[in-house]
Amino acid sequence: MTAEKPQTPTITEYADFLEATRASYDAIAPAYTEAFSDWPAESNPLDRSVVAAFAELARDHAPAPTADLGSGPGTITAHLHALGLPVFGVDLSPRMVALARRAHPELRFHVGSMTSLDLPDETLGGILALYSIIHVPDDHLPTTFAEFHRVLRPGAPLLLGFQSGDTEDRLHLTERFGQEIALDYHWRTPETVTGALTKAGLRLQARVLREPQDEEKRPRAFVLARKAA
Ligand SMILES: C[S@@+](CC[C@H](N)C(=O)[O-])C[C@H]1O[C@@H](n2cnc3c(N)ncnc32)[C@H](O)[C@@H]1O
Repeated sequence: MTAEKPQTPTITEYADFLEATRASYDAIAPAYTEAFSDWPAESNPLDRSVVAAFAELARDHAPAPTADLGSGPGTITAHLHALGLPVFGVDLSPRMVALARRAHPELRFHVGSMTSLDLPDETLGGILALYSIIHVPDDHLPTTFAEFHRVLRPGAPLLLGFQSGDTEDRLHLTERFGQEIALDYHWRTPETVTGALTKAGLRLQARVLREPQDEEKRPRAFVLARKAA
């Protein structure tokens, strides 16, 4: 008799998109961490300059901390720390958080969701979210951006980074790094994202669209906004 391989639930069998995203990143956390742990050295100079500009704006609000939302392995959190920002990371995946803590024991990382932040009103000096709003479906984006607006101090900056693409062109992956997953990727243009940010009361400061380099399939978008002072 051959043992049956346990079936990974498909996305519809998870309670919701958060549970599916959490389980997927828990499954790939070690491989993802190994693949993407050298961001400062391997990232595009333009991306680094946008992050450096954000760090300079957020430093004006120190000692109020900056939150790296969807911090993954914590590499970019550590980069912000090296740029002189008081910063901590928040990630949906407990395994990602454990790996980030192990790699960066001097920094704080919490398990949590950007869709419902366990943070008091107007306490953050900045929010950075790189390649993490791509896992938030369109109908949850207004609540998420309302959360960002709620926790930011007046005048504090927000930087979002994401692959630019058509909303219709959603990607669903069932495998990555050899692991079974159930992960949705929601592509959006900078215009779609800035429209939603503006509706949440945030003020647009800059949009950067960089062409894909090397293995990248889609342009990289950065949107810098701030809460009104
Ligand atoms: C593509 S990785 C990006 C990691 C890191 N920001 C980077 O650029 O290297 C996306 C990360 O966002 C996290 N994530 C996805 N949805 C989230 C949510 N609702 N709240 C917090 N983190 C989330 C995932 O667990 C994962 O670690």
